[in-house]
Amino acid sequence: MDMRSYARALITGASGGIGRGFAERLPGATDLLLTGRNAERLEAVAARVAKPGRLVKTIEADLTRDADRDRLIEAAEAFGIDLLINNAGAGRFGRLLDNPPEAERAAVLVNVVSVVDLTRRLLPGMLQRARTARRRAGVIVVASTAAFTPVPFLATYAATKAFDLQFAEALAEELHDEPADVLALCPGVTRTRFDAGPMFTPGNVPGAADPGDVAAQGLAALGRQTVYVAGLLNQATLGPVVLPRRLISSAVGMAMRLVAGRSC
Ligand SMILES: NC(=O)c1ccc[n+]([C@@H]2O[C@H](COP(=O)([O-])OP(=O)(O)OC[C@H]3O[C@@H](n4cnc5c(N)ncnc54)[C@H](OP(=O)(O)O)[C@@H]3O)[C@@H](O)[C@H]2O)c1
Repeated sequence: MDMRSYARALITGASGGIGRGFAERLPGATDLLLTGRNAERLEAVAARVAKPGRLVKTIEADLTRDADRDRLIEAAEAFGIDLLINNAGAGRFGRLLDNPPEAERAAVLVNVVSVVDLTRRLLPGMLQRARTARRRAGVIVVASTAAFTPVPFLATYAATKAFDLQFAEALAEELHDEPADVLALCPGVTRTRFDAGPMFTPGNVPGAADPGDVAAQGLAALGRQTVYVAGLLNQATLGPVVLPRRLISSAVGMAMRLVAGRSC
């Protein structure tokens, strides 16, 4: 598969599902820093993707905690990443008023706060290394097909994914002249352990996609597209919505540059 080459990648939520798919589908020449909360599963993924000459490290971190994110960012900077995959995600199915407040809060912290924090603090080093090595940096934000509409009973989750989508689209436009590619990857239901609570398990939905395939599609789309909807059926449904978005973010980017004068 034709994909951009990266020297060192940080994958959040690498202990299973689509995150493990990224670890497995990145070329063997890419060193990996894998993070999640479950140390045992992280080690199992690390063992699976180990290759002679490849550096694979794991770091346990809970992305809802400021101190853990600080530690992770420090480790990623020391590792010298040029690819950041914001894949970890949390969300709870149910009425907002019935869901535990801490589950709703975790969705915002993992899907929004952590994505912004990691991207904002790691990008400067990634861009610097890309310029020095005359390569490109990459950022993938794993959003969802749930990003395109309000989704009752997944209200907070879908809203966080809408944030992820718009954040990635706007960032791609801001980095237009930089050696960097940004992708919002929007999977539909995928066969993973994603824990949305007792009432709904997306991985059990008939026809759910293979997580490795979703990751591979995302890696292939990075550098070619800004938004990639995984799966033909999802693409057919969302194509008319996705296509004009790129034109809109370019046009708004141009208008905002005019507003800001030469400083942007
Ligand atoms: N499965 C689907 O149908 C589907 C559809 C659209 C989008 N997505 C998105 O795809 C991404 C990956 O999810 P998945 O489906 O592959 O499910 P998954 O296998 O459950 O992966 C979620 C990952 O996020 C990590 N994570 C969750 N909370 C965390 C926290 N507080 N701190 C650190 N890591 C945390 C988990 O690691 P630990 O448990 O080790 O902490 C796990 O590795 C998510 O962003 C999800 O929203 C999934």
